[in-house]
Amino acid sequence: MDVMSRIEQSLAAALARGDHPGCPPRLTAAMRYAVFPRGARIRPRLCLSVAAACGDDRPDIADSAAAAIELLHCASLIHDDLPCFDDADIRRGRPSVHRAFGEPLAVLAGDALIVLAFQTLAQGAMSAPARLPALLGTIGLSVGIPCGIVAGQAWECEQDVDLAQYQREKTGALFAAATVAGAAAAGGPAECWREVGMRLGEAFQVADDILDATGNPEMLGKPAGQDCAHARPSAVLQLGLDGAIARLEDLSGEAVEAVPPCPGRLALRSHIRTETLRLLPQELARHAA
Ligand code: IPE
Ligand code: IPE
Ligand code: MG
Ligand code: MG
Repeated sequence: MDVMSRIEQSLAAALARGDHPGCPPRLTAAMRYAVFPRGARIRPRLCLSVAAACGDDRPDIADSAAAAIELLHCASLIHDDLPCFDDADIRRGRPSVHRAFGEPLAVLAGDALIVLAFQTLAQGAMSAPARLPALLGTIGLSVGIPCGIVAGQAWECEQDVDLAQYQREKTGALFAAATVAGAAAAGGPAECWREVGMRLGEAFQVADDILDATGNPEMLGKPAGQDCAHARPSAVLQLGLDGAIARLEDLSGEAVEAVPPCPGRLALRSHIRTETLRLLPQELARHAA
């Protein structure tokens, strides 16, 4: 089965837990709405690419790790769009979850997706339970305190914010979980994969800042100009457009260099190069040259 089908199938299986007469139907509808139709699925694809590079001897575990990571990402987007955070009306080209279902169900759908991620992971690891603690540890670290998504978003409530730390936590941490969990799901050494994910995640957030500053809602499927409007720390505001593009290129190169020795190293390095080239539209990439 190809990678995207594996991801969509595991996500559908996870969401099917809500298909129960005892479950409030608008809650499951809001959860499905947040997960399907898909965004780029960049984090679960990264997780499965690393698992493949490490031999992928237990695809069922890799699939559950990839699905858990995407469920956490979708939950983070619901909460990020709420009026108390970025107050965004559109996401993936249509009304954000609170615009479609109201704020109470958006909060609850995000909460339920977070819990579902860990249920999915536990279920998936049943065939090799010895791998579960490492997966739980690394994925939990990427979303909680002291340095996961929740911590990253909380920097928006502080006065003094370090841009790189904010970006590492709100975005880099889940990318790091994708690489570390991909390796852990395949039973290989895992911590050596953290650096690749951190660099990629930081590159991805710098690209998001560039698109926020230069794109438009039609192209992005979400509001543009938000970093400036909400006075968020942003690579473009801090480094200028050229500086941000140069930073993105440096981070992409560092991610490729950080890939540790493994059976599929060459293919993975080339996959990362292709993916990072796609982060910006061509005219912006040329602008940097
Ligand atoms: C958006 O992530 C949020 C950031 C961390 C910048 P994505 O651009 O991966 O969102 P989807 O899943 O493709 O919609
Ligand atoms: C989103 O950061 C990061 C998380 C959801 C944790 P942004 O607020 O910059 O992302 P977009 O631009 O809304 O997707
Ligand atoms: Mg935000
Ligand atoms: Mg936002």
